Amino acid sequence: MREFCIRWSKRFFICSAAVLFLFCAGCGSAANRGKSTVRIGVGLYRSDDTFINNLRRELEQYAKEYEQESGTKIVLDIQAAKGNQSVQNRQVDRFVSLDCDVLCVNPVDRMAVSSIIDKAMAADIPLVFFNRQPSTEDMNRWDRLCYVGVDAKETAVLQGQIVADHYREHPEQLDPNGDGVVSYVLLEGETSHQDSLIRTEWSVKTILDKGVPLERLTGGIGNWERSQASALMEQWLGQYGKKIELVLSNNDDMALGALDAMERAGITGICVVGIDATDPGLAAVREGKMIGTVSADKAGYAKTIFDTAVELSEKGSTAKEKYYWCRQEILTGVEN
Ligand code: GAL
Repeated sequence: MREFCIRWSKRFFICSAAVLFLFCAGCGSAANRGKSTVRIGVGLYRSDDTFINNLRRELEQYAKEYEQESGTKIVLDIQAAKGNQSVQNRQVDRFVSLDCDVLCVNPVDRMAVSSIIDKAMAADIPLVFFNRQPSTEDMNRWDRLCYVGVDAKETAVLQGQIVADHYREHPEQLDPNGDGVVSYVLLEGETSHQDSLIRTEWSVKTILDKGVPLERLTGGIGNWERSQASALMEQWLGQYGKKIELVLSNNDDMALGALDAMERAGITGICVVGIDATDPGLAAVREGKMIGTVSADKAGYAKTIFDTAVELSEKGSTAKEKYYWCRQEILTGVEN
């Protein structure tokens, strides 16, 4: 029988080492206390990213619940930027002209957020960035600026742990040719994303540290996308065939792309591991197509973005840390 197994990360709520960041009392002038409507401008980097869409759904759901419980009307104005920073900048201009009380932005280019910060500061509208982390220099420009995300190293260590645990329990599945080495291919996210490099580095390092012998066959950039990963995997299957024993993917969508290519080629028996626990990723774990995934607590993630935004807009300040790291967990399908 297959049982869905959930192990919480040891590092619940690992927050930045930064001391509690109490925002200045002087911000009260811009506060929105007692307002019966809170208008939140939400900017997404793209509309077709599965993980971001799962997060969006949680945000909308939580906003509805909050509205019902608090009696405060919440207007969530959500715009996606088609992966174009200039489009996102124009969307932020519009949010400002509509007199939004707070902005929540998932930047297209995390290193090019200074003009968004300029606009927010000029209009005195607090800003919550999420998922794509701006530089420390940008984050330190204003005290009404927060970031919500996940700790990329923690994600990677958890992914490495999934592989190491699976190797301990089923070495024959991870090394079917029995040569004593797990031969893997690597699917990486966007090069400009803070998570990609860290996920790759620490996932591989964790697997090796836990005593699993690894050999990298090849790797490529799939930009988080299922179709790009599928094309890469198709190529690698042609090149290496069943020599590939493991697909290490920076996210679930690319892991699913690898599975698509395996299905087209009629190849089974390659272990695949992802990150995100998106709905389709989770389904693949349940069906035994993926050995596991790492889940950011998406409900908690969305709640934190929302609560921080509303707190900043209503009180003008928040007692939360400037950086908030959501908790993560391992999800695996375990044979009993
Ligand atoms: C990552 C996530 C990816 C993709 C990316 C977008 O955290 O794992 O699947 O959604 O964010 O910035």
